[in-house]
Amino acid sequence: MKVFKKKKSIQIFSAKQKSIAFVPTMGNLHSGHIKLIQAAKKKCSCVVVSIFINPTQFNEKSDFEKYPKTLTQDLKLLKKLRIDAVFIPDEIEMHTDKNDFKLNMLNTDHGLCDSYRPGHFEGVILIVSRLCNIIRPNYLFLGKKDYQQLFILKKLIKFYCYPIKVIGIQTIREKSGLAISSRNNQLSNLNRLESIILYKTLQNIKKTCKSLNKIEKIENEFTENLKKNGWIVDYLTIRSQLSLLKPTRSEKKLV
Ligand code: PAF
Repeated sequence: MKVFKKKKSIQIFSAKQKSIAFVPTMGNLHSGHIKLIQAAKKKCSCVVVSIFINPTQFNEKSDFEKYPKTLTQDLKLLKKLRIDAVFIPDEIEMHTDKNDFKLNMLNTDHGLCDSYRPGHFEGVILIVSRLCNIIRPNYLFLGKKDYQQLFILKKLIKFYCYPIKVIGIQTIREKSGLAISSRNNQLSNLNRLESIILYKTLQNIKKTCKSLNKIEKIENEFTENLKKNGWIVDYLTIRSQLSLLKPTRSEKKLV
């Protein structure tokens, strides 16, 4: 496995490859990432993983500073997985301090996490488009766990006509239903127990959500239920998987 820290050197490596499957990460690799990498390996002979904790997508500096940093372990795991190259740039290499242009502004009206994490998706868009421009992959592998991120990045690739196919990979969950993620790994035992309620709520909504007429009623009922169980609910909303907007009558696929 080759380890690159500089844009120039990974660009030279990438240019020599026939096709590249790319898995962008912020490190602290877990079984969700392993699934992405395994799917990438099936697709392409060359798999590149990036590890960059992107400061521009964190709303709070303290959240960024707390984010788990496990580079030595991550590199060991990637070596075991026999990927071809890992790109671990620093902030200078990724120009995260540069704000000369205001490109890639998000223009959607789905709200959701975008309303609660202002600037987060702009930060994701900035770094993923830079990484794609540096690595020039043919395939980009992302988890469905961050469904809005996947949705927005698919739109970005289409908008800029990047010759990249985006592949979304199913979420890996613990037995309790909790999605495996670096943030969820930081939950206390009590929070872990409480998270089961959220997963059950989502499953029940899916079962209940047969009729589009009742959407608002279902949203209100389940929000109240979570509140009764001590949750502070940012949002609970039923959306179309295809548009991330409120589903229309003709749409069957719901998020
Ligand atoms: O999902 C993540 O880990 C990050 O948002 C990503 C896609 C690596 C961009 O920094």
